[in-house]
Amino acid sequence: MFTPYFKQGDPVMGRAKITIVGAGNVGATTAHWCAAAELGDIVLLDIPRTEDMPKGKALDLMQSSPIMGFDSNIAGTTSYDATADSDVVVITAGIPRKPGMSRDDLLSTNAKIVSSVAEQIKETSPNAILIVVSNPLDAMVQQVWKVSGFPSKRVLGQAGVLDTARYRTFIAMELGVSVEDVAALLMGGHGDTMVPMPSCTSVGGIPVTRLMYRSRLDEIVDRARKGGAEIVSLLKTGSAYYAPAAACAQMVEAIVKDKRRVLPCAAYCDEEYGVGGYYVGVPIVLGANGVEKVIELDLDADENAAFRKSVDAVQELVAKTEELMSVG
Ligand code: LAC
Repeated sequence: MFTPYFKQGDPVMGRAKITIVGAGNVGATTAHWCAAAELGDIVLLDIPRTEDMPKGKALDLMQSSPIMGFDSNIAGTTSYDATADSDVVVITAGIPRKPGMSRDDLLSTNAKIVSSVAEQIKETSPNAILIVVSNPLDAMVQQVWKVSGFPSKRVLGQAGVLDTARYRTFIAMELGVSVEDVAALLMGGHGDTMVPMPSCTSVGGIPVTRLMYRSRLDEIVDRARKGGAEIVSLLKTGSAYYAPAAACAQMVEAIVKDKRRVLPCAAYCDEEYGVGGYYVGVPIVLGANGVEKVIELDLDADENAAFRKSVDAVQELVAKTEELMSVG
């Protein structure tokens, strides 16, 4: 008889432990992409009101593993104890948008939710790297950072990878080329003020401005900027999740494999870009320590003006969040 030498849920040496808080569409799909890429063992957590739901999703996903050929353990839970000593925690908890809502309309509900998540995670996984996905993104990352008390390089937000992926998709569709050959960057907040960077957009190494009129590129940027709302208006009952979750998985991979990917993420910038202590979308090097480095570019006048406008919008949301949390 073969005696198993470990039980499901036991920590496995050499495997990263990835907790995903929120087992809704973004959370469960992040678990799916992370498992399929064998990034580590996964704990999917949701609040007790949902009782066995996270367990059901985790078990279902686990049962796909013989077919898909991955060896990640996936556990569902309603208890933070099961998430103890995670290496990476992805925070997706919160409510999504409905048609007609902006990301900012979610602020009062989601600020309380992410604060409570951060309170618990700082106790159970004091060394984790936190990736925040809840909206309004930039303000929620700032809130998680503040409540967790973690060093800023261990707290970051997912937005730029998604926004840039939308932009890359639209450019590839326009030119009829592989998405893999489109490299690009968008900066600023995850909102209507996100900043296009045509000077940092290329197709197989060719600057995009040599392949497309600027006016057409501007239309594509605008579509990317409104990319989240476009999906919300199509789905009607919620917001995007396949692409946001894929973006999270790419960030988790950069961390657990210490890949040092250069990705646009919401990172804490103080002196960087003269931001003065806020989370905002910038290109970073993402590795085992979290934000290894914020890459500072010389912005031209237009880019700089757009970036400042975006930072102002983020500051306003952070001020609103602080006001809201101070009155309880
Ligand atoms: C979006 C939401 C998830 O951009 O922020 O789709």
